[in-house]
Amino acid sequence: HADVVVLGIETSCDDTAAAVVRSDGEILSQVVSSQADLLAKYGGVAPKMAEEAHSQAIDRVVQEALDKAYMTEKDLTAVAVTIGPGLSLCLRVGVQKARRIAGRFNLPIIGIHHMEAHALVARLIEKDLQFPFMVLLISGGHNLLILARDLGQYIQLGTTIDDAIGEAYDKTAKWLGLDLRRSGGPAIEQLAMEGNAESVKFSIPMKQHKDCNFSYAGLKTQVRLAIESKKIDAKIPISSASEEDRMSRADIAASFQRTAVLHLEERCERAIQWALKMEPSIRDLVVSGGVASNQYVRARLDMVAKKNGLQLLCPPPGLCTDNGVMIAWTGIEHFRMGRYDPPPPAEEPENFV
Ligand code: KG4
Ligand code: ZN
Repeated sequence: HADVVVLGIETSCDDTAAAVVRSDGEILSQVVSSQADLLAKYGGVAPKMAEEAHSQAIDRVVQEALDKAYMTEKDLTAVAVTIGPGLSLCLRVGVQKARRIAGRFNLPIIGIHHMEAHALVARLIEKDLQFPFMVLLISGGHNLLILARDLGQYIQLGTTIDDAIGEAYDKTAKWLGLDLRRSGGPAIEQLAMEGNAESVKFSIPMKQHKDCNFSYAGLKTQVRLAIESKKIDAKIPISSASEEDRMSRADIAASFQRTAVLHLEERCERAIQWALKMEPSIRDLVVSGGVASNQYVRARLDMVAKKNGLQLLCPPPGLCTDNGVMIAWTGIEHFRMGRYDPPPPAEEPENFV
């Protein structure tokens, strides 16, 4: 049967992304336009500003994705778009664009859950990955442990009761005066390599709770207090810090990262044991989301997986952070199962969605 070709659009947070993917797993194109400049300037995402940036970028990003794939809208089988979770103002920009294309070119439209896409992109990378499998999703907004039993059948084993791990990385980076033009995570990962992970004692969150939930708010507070007590001034960028100041920042980065990941390891191990009781045939642990692009995180979770008889699967870094490929691919998975909506009307009022 003929190949399915799907355009994926993602605007749930601060990146405007689009990609064209084919059902045999070929990535025909991929474009990400980031708001890193805005992030660095204002130290975070403000919904209204992010919406504006998406609106300005969306037409160009989608056009570029089509051009790079040597395609026009007429060559597409369907359009997939993130419908949540995320900032609603931002999501709307992507959904309106998707509906406009689908309406004009009479294409089915597939609404995608952002977190499902983070998980399922692993099946694009690893063709042999079969359900059921375990998933740990670690990003700026989410910390989820999931048992994926089948397409659309997900059992949540754990979630965060406050902040996600990526949020803790981002705040730690900000308080340590790191360069935020790249997001906080990679900056901490790099600085941590210079530091001693044993030097600052942080306690592992929720040790007394024998479940699979996460908490990073308390660790954030511990980090903030350590930074205050070492008299580190975030207004002095690390590039201008003295050698001694730099070392104490590196020690905090390394100690924070170690504790943050120990928390992941502990919860992950318990979740695997729970899941294996329900589904003894599980062979794989998928780790995805922005934080999964971290090499230290991968190495530690690889040990947890192996120790419990599973194989660790992490998408390449560019597919761990927010991207259009994961949306297009998840669209393909849904489309194959007949899960899509009919084309919207060709002309919709401007602010219909
Ligand atoms: O999945 P993602 O791109 O967007 C959300 O859905 O949130 O994840 C972004 C998060 C940010 O908090 C960022 O700092 C973190 O992923 N991140 C990292 C690394 N790369 C991105 N955290 C730690 N180490 C990294 N190398
Ligand atoms: Zn994400």
